[in-house]
Amino acid sequence: MLMHRPQSTPEAASYIERLGELLDDCRCESYSLHDHSESVASLAEMLAVGAALSESDCHKAWLGGYFHDIGKIFVTRKIHFKPGALTSSERQVMRQHPALGERLLVGSAFESVAPIARHHHERMDGTGYPDGLAGNRIPMLARLVAVADFYVAYRENRTNRRGHSHSDTLILAEGAAASGHLDPEMVRLLVQTADTLDLPVAAASVLN
Ligand SMILES: [Fe+2]
Ligand SMILES: [Fe+2]
Repeated sequence: MLMHRPQSTPEAASYIERLGELLDDCRCESYSLHDHSESVASLAEMLAVGAALSESDCHKAWLGGYFHDIGKIFVTRKIHFKPGALTSSERQVMRQHPALGERLLVGSAFESVAPIARHHHERMDGTGYPDGLAGNRIPMLARLVAVADFYVAYRENRTNRRGHSHSDTLILAEGAAASGHLDPEMVRLLVQTADTLDLPVAAASVLN
């Protein structure tokens, strides 16, 4: 798979490699931000292909998935891998990663996916961050990547919990759509695509 991984120019390939190394630095024993990003990219791409989006949007879905958490490279390991709940000031720091990611991508070869990084934590009911956008005001590919991120995050083992099963995660995603968090159309797409979910090896190492 990974049809839409950018390989068009040597500059783009080397830039994505360098950012990939920064994502890879962000790891602890049981969790790798790079593996998380690869998994979200692959699933976002599958959802985009499943929705018959244009080649350009499938490409952006992969890239946006890969870079959605790139702003976390500025968050300290102490906060990122803290086993317990974050304090309110730590949460404030963590919540800056979408805007930081956007700033890193603007002006780069991957500027077109900066809005995905910025808006992947918005919620359909407007209670997300950083801008509190609601419904269709959230860019479509950010809503798609948010669903891929949700699925991958719940499947992964984290420092303080084991990952959920595939079927439990789909139920959680449907609940999140019903409660105004995720886009119901995108969750429907996830459920339809679920039978064919075939995440690559990078994902298999973090998914149970
Ligand atoms: Fe994030
Ligand atoms: Fe994420």
